[in-house]
Amino acid sequence: MATSKDKIRNYNANITAVGMYLPEKVLDNHYFEKIVDTNDEWIVSRTGIRERRKEENGATSDMAARAADDLIKNHNINPEEIDVIIVATVTPDMFFPATACLVQEKIGAKNAWGFDLSAACSGFLFALKTGAGLIEGGTYKKVLVIGADKMSTIINYKDRNTCLLFGDAASAVLLEPTEDLNIGVKDSILHCDGSGKESLYMKGGGSLNPPTHETVDQGLHTLYQDGKTVFKEAVKGMADISVEIMQKNNLSSDDVAYLVPHQANLRIIDATANRMGIPKEKAMVNIDKYGNTTAATIPLCLTEYYRDGKLKKGDNLVLAAFGAGFTWGSIYLTWGID
Ligand code: UT7
Repeated sequence: MATSKDKIRNYNANITAVGMYLPEKVLDNHYFEKIVDTNDEWIVSRTGIRERRKEENGATSDMAARAADDLIKNHNINPEEIDVIIVATVTPDMFFPATACLVQEKIGAKNAWGFDLSAACSGFLFALKTGAGLIEGGTYKKVLVIGADKMSTIINYKDRNTCLLFGDAASAVLLEPTEDLNIGVKDSILHCDGSGKESLYMKGGGSLNPPTHETVDQGLHTLYQDGKTVFKEAVKGMADISVEIMQKNNLSSDDVAYLVPHQANLRIIDATANRMGIPKEKAMVNIDKYGNTTAATIPLCLTEYYRDGKLKKGDNLVLAAFGAGFTWGSIYLTWGID
């Protein structure tokens, strides 16, 4: 149902196409038993993760371009009609040029401009909201929003606290305008709070700690996470914001077809579903197969559930994420692909 807020818009931004790329190489939990002091039982019970992927054949832009090509092929999109490319990532190929420029060339999107967006695990939500704004403004007709991360390049494979949590993947959605305000992106609540900066970061490589032999020796070029603190904040952040967006839009638990949560920990997903008053089965889950793929988790869920026939036009979705920054947020949309 369109809300009063939606009626002031002429267009909603509707997801009209999806695509994904998963590297072939699978790292199961037994792989990690061999390299750090851990075990399959701990990993499954504390995180829900059984496997994750590792890219051995390219950089983030290659993974992002393969996800975009999958979308283009499956939905018969002409890449020359794409107006804007937004790539959410914390593992860009380089500081510059932007990964979006590299993707633009790789997929032949000759008429597009684009940029990267850095919001860690909330990156896809921030990019989706940004892309939706470009569509709602009426200027652009096709905005490609990609979540892509090659986490294996910033992981310390000696740190059992983090190395087994993350995986590599990319996934993409296409936004187009629709005059049917009953479908598409309807509302969002997004936040950041830099006081969380010490809990999840990669300290080295940027202007604060440019690369030196010392920064390499100190291990500053890989991800650090204070898991316990982030866990507590993530449970509260994701659950509160999901409930808030439901209340703001008068959605009962029955109105929500799916929670589409960032995949960082199955316990965080379950706690969020519980607070929303929806059964676990209504939370999209693929963390068991792919781990935490940072910006790619939410579009990967959307793509898989759509292709499996589990997502139908008219389904109300609550997307929710929490990540480094801290960044967190929720988007309410109604699925619009038949
Ligand atoms: O996506 C971005 C946002 N990130 C998140 O949302 C992640 C949030 N955090 C988490 O998901 C969880 O905190 C972790 C999965 C990272 C850790 O789970 P936890 O239940 O918070 O474990 P913990 O850090 O409290 O550690 C519990 C115990 C400790 O042992 P003691 O002190 O109780 O003896 C750890 O040393 O588990 C131990 N431990 C491990 N044991 C086996 C920590 N890592 C491992 C491991 N294997 N890999």
